[in-house]
Amino acid sequence: MDNIDFYKYKDLVELHILDFLPEVDYKSITVYEAMKYSVTAGGKRLRPSLLLAACEFAGGDIKNAIPYACAAEYIQTYSLIHDDLPAMDNDDIRRGLPTNHKVYGEATAILAGDGLLTSAFEAMNKDMLLYFDSDMQLKRRVKASYELAKGAGCKGMIAGQIADIEAVNKQCSKEMLDYININKTAALIVASIRAGAHLGGANEKMLRDLTDYAEFLGLAFQIKDDLLDVTGIETDMGKMPGVDKIMNKSTYPGCYGIEASKTKLKELTENAIAVLEPYYDEAEFFTNLANELLVRIK
Ligand code: IPE
Ligand code: IPE
Ligand code: MG
Ligand code: MG
Ligand code: MG
Repeated sequence: MDNIDFYKYKDLVELHILDFLPEVDYKSITVYEAMKYSVTAGGKRLRPSLLLAACEFAGGDIKNAIPYACAAEYIQTYSLIHDDLPAMDNDDIRRGLPTNHKVYGEATAILAGDGLLTSAFEAMNKDMLLYFDSDMQLKRRVKASYELAKGAGCKGMIAGQIADIEAVNKQCSKEMLDYININKTAALIVASIRAGAHLGGANEKMLRDLTDYAEFLGLAFQIKDDLLDVTGIETDMGKMPGVDKIMNKSTYPGCYGIEASKTKLKELTENAIAVLEPYYDEAEFFTNLANELLVRIK
């Protein structure tokens, strides 16, 4: 991606990504090291960058949103550690490195995921407790944390992940495929944008528009992920291609074919961009990002 604004947000996330992990004593240092391993392994930092961008778009100060952005990335990283486990997708490479369980073993990888998920909420709650007394400021932060809980939870990412697992080796309906992708992937993307919008003090109309944008972008993002699994290469992606076929996953290319998936991806990207058209140049970051994600190679 060559979007300068994206790097502004991403760099801020990189700078602070370890700041909100709890200090652990040496007796439990292994789990901290495993958490740190995956959270510093790289990654696009898409969700926290979207959170920061939405906060700024809504008129907020992104410095105040940093704990929430890092929390979104802790949740994302936990989801990948667990997604890669042998009981789930059984992947060996993630973010260009051996997966967490390959380095630390399955038990530690499970705990590292648990540690990151809980750290996300610890970070957000600590921020609320320490720094914000005004009802309005506090309420914005509670809303942000609630969005991330919902997006990551049983009516969001977890719902998508269980449906994804249960669809293995089955003929999956198109409706079910949408359900999987909207929940396992779009839900956390939507939640991140909504969290940022709340933090920035977005009004109802802006919140609705950003949500619509994120829903299109989130679904497009998973279709592209499915396409990259077929056509991408490991050195670009930092993960193994071809695993969806090996695992007999229900995917867009599997269900609709490659060409139809590309068409759908393009359509969703155009829809995402169209939602923010009324904001003209103000929404340039989001428009550029949608176009860049359309042609991403990792
Ligand atoms: C991977 O997400 C999991 C999906 C939802 C497809 P990303 O492609 O954003 O992975 P990282 O965070 O950049 O490693
Ligand atoms: C994962 O979808 C979505 C998550 C919630 C982690 P995939 O299983 O397709 O993601 P990759 O391809 O392993 O990154
Ligand atoms: Mg998976
Ligand atoms: Mg996977
Ligand atoms: Mg995938």
